Amino acid sequence: MGSRALSNDLFLRACRREKLDRPPIWIMRQAGRYMPEYQEIRKKTTFLGLCKTPELATQATLLPIDLLGLDAAILFSDILIPLEAMGLALEFTEHKGPRFPEPVRSDADIDRLTVPDARKTTGFVAEAIRLINQRLAGRVPLLGFSGSPFTLATYMVEGETSKEFTRVKRLMFGNPKGYRALMEKITETVIGYLEMQIEAGIHAYQLFDTWAGSLSADHYREYALPYTQEIVRALSRHGIPSILYVNGTCALLEDMNRAGTDVLSIDWRLPMDRAIPRVPPEKVLQGNLDPVVLLSTKDTLESEARRVLKAVGTRPGHIFNLGHGILPDTPMEMARHLVKIVKNGL
Ligand code: CP3
Repeated sequence: MGSRALSNDLFLRACRREKLDRPPIWIMRQAGRYMPEYQEIRKKTTFLGLCKTPELATQATLLPIDLLGLDAAILFSDILIPLEAMGLALEFTEHKGPRFPEPVRSDADIDRLTVPDARKTTGFVAEAIRLINQRLAGRVPLLGFSGSPFTLATYMVEGETSKEFTRVKRLMFGNPKGYRALMEKITETVIGYLEMQIEAGIHAYQLFDTWAGSLSADHYREYALPYTQEIVRALSRHGIPSILYVNGTCALLEDMNRAGTDVLSIDWRLPMDRAIPRVPPEKVLQGNLDPVVLLSTKDTLESEARRVLKAVGTRPGHIFNLGHGILPDTPMEMARHLVKIVKNGL
């Protein structure tokens, strides 16, 4: 579905850096546990069950559109889904998050991983995308997404969310050949996975390289960026907008710019007015309210949201978002208030 068929195409116009009266707003992790209505859907199955049932994933995707009036929908899924398709068993334990019980620890483990046929192994994602677009009926654009290879490798090697990333960095520094082989398999998988999403009808895609902020700028350039560049290059022929998110943007912004995405999504640490001079004028910026502000008062939320809007000023090409995912204990009323502030403008 082309952008002409959309009744609200503010998001796509911001990606094209058109001059707008207000920025579009969507929220990372916008369909999540902070919503009682999400909890209701979630009660019906496990988290993975939810991701793999197109009807339920569609319902979850639509919640923040119907309840908050955001300007873009994002496919309800998880960045770890294609890793299971590569042959790694995946578990989500209540309260503890994702776990790979048999993580990648040796060359033999890397050799065993397959580059899956996305349609055969993750066809439920394509089916969800088609169903979501049917139900959206052109109200807003739909974003697809994938993890970026480095962040996916952290989960595959560490086996869970990590703080220090010791194992994956040991592989990277100590066995560069094995690391490269792993990253190449992940990159190929991600390209096929996003090709499938594009074919199914997404209007834009975001690459989450959440944990690349654990790398120095030199190491990011050497060990993470080339794979992200390869994905962006491979998908560029489709002509849909691309977004790159990293948590820990400050040290990496100039190098993130070299990934070639249309949009850079920045965390909350770097104020927009300091980010702007560090990127070329044609780059769109997304962000960057601190998610914890939503746990404070409406007054604070107003002044902090305005701080972001003021820091961007009249520069075209801004998508309002948080600097990371919305937190599970965020009151719905605060999320609703944020949307109202951004829609009313400065
Ligand atoms: O943005 C959206 O609403 C789309 C859905 C989405 C989810 N995860 C749903 C989810 C997206 C885009 C993601 C991306 C994701 N998943 C990232 C990158 C973005 C980021 O936040 O840094 C990462 C690192 C993951 C891996 C992951 N999934 C973790 C670490 C966890 C556990 C921690 C947590 O927040 O719960 C998940 C689970 C998860 N992914 C939930 C949701 C709604 C909660 C699961 C539940 O309902 O029990």
